[in-house]
Amino acid sequence: MIAKLASQNAHKLEELRAALPGWELELLGAAEFPPEEGDTYYENARGKAEFGRSLAGPEAWTIGEDSGIELAALGGAPGMRSARWADDGVARALEELADVDDRRARYVCELVALAPAGEERRGTGILDGTIAEERRGSEGFGYDPIFIPDGEAQTVAELGNAWKREHSHRALAARALRSAFRT
Ligand code: IMP
Repeated sequence: MIAKLASQNAHKLEELRAALPGWELELLGAAEFPPEEGDTYYENARGKAEFGRSLAGPEAWTIGEDSGIELAALGGAPGMRSARWADDGVARALEELADVDDRRARYVCELVALAPAGEERRGTGILDGTIAEERRGSEGFGYDPIFIPDGEAQTVAELGNAWKREHSHRALAARALRSAFRT
């Protein structure tokens, strides 16, 4: 299946390519993606997929992705606003949690696939973890240097891209999307 990913994030493309074997996934280059205006990850992901559909060729499915990190001690912030929360979101998260015992966090990813004719399939992925005391590791992107998945001792940036391709919230969402295609 040919599908276009309505995103400019090459890391996301790499994780999704590995998690969606059999799909010919390409980044959809667009100078200006519309602002994320939805109230949920789903609405934002669907908005990106719809925007992608207006640009992609008639034969392609388009996939919209929205993701974020939620900090329990902050009532789930920054969530959908993770990309815009701070110039350096990692520094802000470490600062906000400096004297806080509850370091629980989760990554959320929502994927929406739209057929040229408008048919929709979706998948959600959640990765639970805790926020480290300081940055560790160099792979991945965003909050990965401070996110320690439950059951692991290392941060996602230390566990690396191969680990992410298998276990990330994006990989889990892609798996859910694949099973939505089978039902
Ligand atoms: P989006 O591109 O609007 O979906 O923003 C997602 C934001 O959430 C990213 O810019 C990161 O700050 C954060 N995020 C989402 N997924 C990941 C991940 O796999 N690793 C690290 N940060 C992530």
